[in-house]
Amino acid sequence: MTQSAEMVADQLKQALRGFAQTVVIVSTVDSAGERYAMAATAVVPVSMDPPSMLVCINRNASAYGVFASGADFCLNILGANALDIAQGCAMSSGPDRFKTGDWRMLDNIPYLAEAQAAIHCSQSKRVSHGSHDIIFGDVLSVQLAETVDPLLYLEGTYRRVGDQL
Ligand SMILES: Cc1cc2nc3c(=O)[nH]c(=O)nc-3n(C[C@H](O)[C@H](O)[C@H](O)COP(=O)(O)O)c2cc1C
Repeated sequence: MTQSAEMVADQLKQALRGFAQTVVIVSTVDSAGERYAMAATAVVPVSMDPPSMLVCINRNASAYGVFASGADFCLNILGANALDIAQGCAMSSGPDRFKTGDWRMLDNIPYLAEAQAAIHCSQSKRVSHGSHDIIFGDVLSVQLAETVDPLLYLEGTYRRVGDQL
């Protein structure tokens, strides 16, 4: 059965509502020193040789131009204790997104001190695909919290991991 592109997109959205993802705040800075942060779940580990990650950024996002300029970035994996940061990021814009959370700087890139993990990346490649750019980052360093309790996004709501099977 062939489906129209519109129908495929609708059904893919529906499928992805049930695709639990950990919430990540991607943070970066422009050449003028302005900080940017946005929530992202399209974050994927790429390889351990070299240690690398990717994040898909919508070209309409306010931070897109900074990524397009080749800026380095940090992938802040949120814990369930950081729900306020995820919600704050979704509701506010621009520098206001830095009002919630313990934001610090490492090598001139903002990162969240209370993230479950802060993965500092040097941008290594950018590939355009449809509405998004895929931004690859070689991992420079990783900061880990002691607790593993990731903040999940599932069916349009924030959750935490349930029982081990
Ligand atoms: C849970 C969640 C996950 C998101 N994942 C992504 C993503 O992977 N890539 C992306 O470009 N936008 C993603 N978004 C949307 C961006 O966070 C949001 O559109 C972005 O901050 C742009 O807003 P701005 O232009 O006001 O900065 C996500 C939003 C939420 C709430």
